[in-house]
Amino acid sequence: MSFDKMNFKEAVQNRRSIYQLTKKSPISDDRIKEILSTAVNDVPSSFNSQSTRLVVLLKEEHTKFWQIVMDILKGIVPEDSWEHTGNRLNGFMNAYGTVLFYEDPAAIHALQKQYPQYSDKFPQWSEHTSAMHQYALWTAFETEGLGCNLQHYNPLPDEKVAATWEIPLEWSLKAQLVFGQPQEGARENLGKKNQKPLEERLKVYGA
Ligand SMILES: Cc1cc2nc3c(=O)[nH]c(=O)nc-3n(C[C@H](O)[C@H](O)[C@H](O)COP(=O)(O)O)c2cc1C
Repeated sequence: MSFDKMNFKEAVQNRRSIYQLTKKSPISDDRIKEILSTAVNDVPSSFNSQSTRLVVLLKEEHTKFWQIVMDILKGIVPEDSWEHTGNRLNGFMNAYGTVLFYEDPAAIHALQKQYPQYSDKFPQWSEHTSAMHQYALWTAFETEGLGCNLQHYNPLPDEKVAATWEIPLEWSLKAQLVFGQPQEGARENLGKKNQKPLEERLKVYGA
């Protein structure tokens, strides 16, 4: 099943957080780029701000990113809790790639100027816009057999990352989607989804 073939319901139901990943990909880098391009072109944004910027790091570039995070955290995390943090970071490092989700504040400022009545709302809608891109890619990657997990190590590595990949310093990093071919059995061994009762979370009127 792939992005082109899986129906929407299957894709939504299949998406999970998978942490046991490998440095392999079941699809080509060109296919990854194609999926990223579809997300950038077709995921909606508030007032059509198109404020999302994606930086995609594959293979050695991906490893370099997680090494930056690890170096920074090593200086902060107490030694007696390092084992847990280090293991977690090694897990991310042992994946194939990471998508960095940024929002460009210039796009937000332009809208605030154009629509001052919504000025205080645009930063929040920018977060929503980023989340829509995150979800679309997470779901799309999983339809291709890539496993993903979503991380939030910003803002610790922001400056070093901006300098390393020539990313404008003013872009705001929101999240990191780690992806790779799952280790054997990783998807199958996931626990059942922990789902609170639907009745508490869904109300339908007028049906
Ligand atoms: C907005 C959002 C933020 C999340 N942040 C993190 C995170 O920082 N680290 C992490 O390991 N998982 C993170 N997750 C993953 C959730 O914990 C996970 O999606 C949830 O427990 C449901 O499990 P599932 O993804 O396997 O369906 C995040 C998920 C969402 C939607």
